Amino acid sequence: MIYTKILGTGSYLPKKILTNKDLENIVETNDEWIVSRTGIKERRIVTDENTSDLAYNAASIAIKDAGLKKEDIDLLIVATVSGDNVFPGVSQLLQARLELNEIMSFDINAACSGFMYALEIADKMIRSGAYNNALIVGAETLTRLTDWSDRNTCVLFGDGAGAMIVSRSDKNKIKDVITGARGDKDDLLKMKNLDIKDPYQNQKFEMDHIHMKGAEVFKFATRIVPATINNLLDRNNITLDDINYIVAHQANERIIDKAARDLKYPKEKMFLNIHRYGNTSAASVAIALDEAIKSGKLQEGDLFATVAFGGGLTWGGALIEL
Ligand code: UT7
Repeated sequence: MIYTKILGTGSYLPKKILTNKDLENIVETNDEWIVSRTGIKERRIVTDENTSDLAYNAASIAIKDAGLKKEDIDLLIVATVSGDNVFPGVSQLLQARLELNEIMSFDINAACSGFMYALEIADKMIRSGAYNNALIVGAETLTRLTDWSDRNTCVLFGDGAGAMIVSRSDKNKIKDVITGARGDKDDLLKMKNLDIKDPYQNQKFEMDHIHMKGAEVFKFATRIVPATINNLLDRNNITLDDINYIVAHQANERIIDKAARDLKYPKEKMFLNIHRYGNTSAASVAIALDEAIKSGKLQEGDLFATVAFGGGLTWGGALIEL
């Protein structure tokens, strides 16, 4: 039987900090509103780096952490909605820059749930016997896609990247990964691509920005986080008492508060770094996992759950033993 495990993790955040105070000079907002409604105090934003630069730095740390030779990596998946280009993907840029073998490298778009999707794909592809070591990355520069005149969204997002090496294992460590989607709710969180071009007119189209129906996404998020955790528990015949820790997508501290209350799970055992980075979309869970492991909040042998949700609508969760 082929199983999977986490062999190493890494994360990277751009240096420039944008505080809530800074945002007061950009839109009509204030630190008190942002902190009380979201928990966010500051976020990182790129200045001269692109998504592939963040991905490269996070991936380099993860490879080193795993103690793996680059030639042993045989699968590369990048979850992003803010790649450097429409194509080629961040994954292909990364394959070249990391000087990996000529391996399968592809990007996936499942918005903020992208890293959970990447984890499920890597897990199942390794379990099939066809692959041994997958590099999976969540990397975003959402501040490039933000409408900086829209206070409903621009205060929420930040840039960053997280990476993980998922490897073949003789012990069952990545025990379960689930993902899902509800495409009929596409309008709740959306950014359109360039419009259809009329070949008879040489029109120029502006890029769109992120649009979000915040309150409705909030309702979805507060339902799907406990539902996904409960689904993982049921599928694996365990209870919350068996779970040492929960690493949830960092979109809003109030979503994490509500999940803790609804699950009757101690909030201290739910990872939080949203106050420093805001919502980094597909990078969020990957960064959070790296920080939880490196800070010792997650220790070897711990059984923990992860959960993410986002545009699409999409969601995903995993049950993992470190
Ligand atoms: O990772 C993807 C998933 N995304 C999410 O999970 C986001 C989920 N949604 C949320 O986190 C929350 O809905 C938000 C943080 C986006 C908004 O919080 P809210 O408590 O739902 O506020 P609201 O949208 O109901 O707005 C309340 C008021 C409005 O004013 P009025 O109409 O009551 O006068 C807004 O115009 O707050 C106003 N407002 C702001 N005020 C100051 C909205 N944004 C701001 C702002 N600063 N930045």
